[in-house]
Amino acid sequence: MSPSALLNDNDQHDNHLAPALKNGVHLNGHSTLTKGPSLTNGSLKAEYLLDRNLRKAYPVVKGGKGNYLYLNDGRKVFDSTSGAAVSCLGHGNQRVIDAVAAQMQTGTPYLASTFWMSEVVEELCKELINGTDGKMARVYLTGSGSEAMEATVKMARQFFFENNKNTPRVNFIARQHSYHGNTIGALGISGHVARRAPYEPFLMDNVHHVSPCNAYRQRQEGESNAAFVAKKAAELEATFQELGPETVVGFICEPVVGAALGCVPSVPGYLEAMRDVCHKHGALFILDEVMSGMGRCGTLHAWQDEDIVPDLQTIGKGLGAGYQPIAAVLISQRVVNALLDGSGQFVHGQTYQGMPVQAAAALEVQKIMREGNMMKNVQVQGAYLEARLKALLGDHPNVGDIRGRGLFWGIEFVKDKKTKEPFDLKTGIAQKVSDTAISAPFNMVMYPGTGTADGVRGDHVILAPTYIVTREDIDHIAKTASDVVHHVFSEL
Ligand SMILES: Cc1ncc(COP(=O)(O)O)c(C=O)c1O
Repeated sequence: MSPSALLNDNDQHDNHLAPALKNGVHLNGHSTLTKGPSLTNGSLKAEYLLDRNLRKAYPVVKGGKGNYLYLNDGRKVFDSTSGAAVSCLGHGNQRVIDAVAAQMQTGTPYLASTFWMSEVVEELCKELINGTDGKMARVYLTGSGSEAMEATVKMARQFFFENNKNTPRVNFIARQHSYHGNTIGALGISGHVARRAPYEPFLMDNVHHVSPCNAYRQRQEGESNAAFVAKKAAELEATFQELGPETVVGFICEPVVGAALGCVPSVPGYLEAMRDVCHKHGALFILDEVMSGMGRCGTLHAWQDEDIVPDLQTIGKGLGAGYQPIAAVLISQRVVNALLDGSGQFVHGQTYQGMPVQAAAALEVQKIMREGNMMKNVQVQGAYLEARLKALLGDHPNVGDIRGRGLFWGIEFVKDKKTKEPFDLKTGIAQKVSDTAISAPFNMVMYPGTGTADGVRGDHVILAPTYIVTREDIDHIAKTASDVVHHVFSEL
């Protein structure tokens, strides 16, 4: 699609809101909307939508193709984050569009799961279980990662409740500096200081947080992986003991921490050690792969890197690649058996779950990934991205760490490379880098995050390009990222 084909269709919007206007003033007190939204330099400040930031104007996208987004102001922006690590096949994939359109044509994009079953839904679930080499047994479909986390928490509790209606298992152990979603339950599990703050008084008090596995900030000089992991296992064990091991439902972590820390991978041996502590006490080992899974880290599931199979696992983002809102819980045979041997039901359910149109999109996405052997490309281009980023930015005085896995890379910024001291929060480094990147002449997306150092202070950006990137694309991403970072710090 050419950028020009996507431009300026605002004129086609008639003023259907006319009756709500009096003397040219909208009755709600908004400015007059006579010809559709009015853009300033291609950006739009929402007046009707309650946007993420009520004071900010955002650039308007008219469409996308492959790695590029085409903007209303005529610019073409390289999407090197796949949105929020979502659009892993790139934009405008015709096969997925056709699959969605075909499902719409059946007249049943939605079917109530209370009454009906759909072949495409079952086919998707089979595809997903096959992708685990049969190590997981069933799939529970949801519409978002937060919903998948909510379902996981309830399913984990039900696993014990099926056997014993008076089960003492009420506690969860999760990690600081983690993000598991924004609903009250998912936020209650999260260790994201800023997002929790307003709601702290009514977040679940049965969630306890241990430290994450952050080699850059926590590992002592010369400390081996084994010694570092042993400390983490001891901390988890101590938390089990403090709570009473018989009261713990499960431990939840991201194999590679996404938005909260900026692509921090657990060190080799960590997942195995955590699983062993959980299983020693009969608790569940739960992985949140909403961001790090579905191929993002170079294996379809991040746990496949070390073959440490979870009891429950969430997936999202790359599952539907942005073509439909869909996420899921993958459930091990052990947990399925508890339901089969018990009530035979999961006490949950939402209106928009397992819709055929969601499944049609996700199934096509997964087939494209499998048939195109895309994990190979993620591994090859990911290794090249690591090499280029480290070559171009490794020595920069304000780049503290470059870490990640597959096509999931984080750059952490520091004020002092030696002491790892972060910048003052007010400096807004991550946002500056992101704002600069998305502007001309750089025209590339970089995903900002804060709280990287201690939950409040600290800055990082994430790069999470599509799985269809070429070596030339990686050269472009690394060079642009380097140019942006050099530019921002030279202006400070
Ligand atoms: C690790 C992780 N878990 C859960 C979620 C929540 O997913 P959603 O935003 O689809 O509700 C996210 C979203 O960024 C995530 O990164």
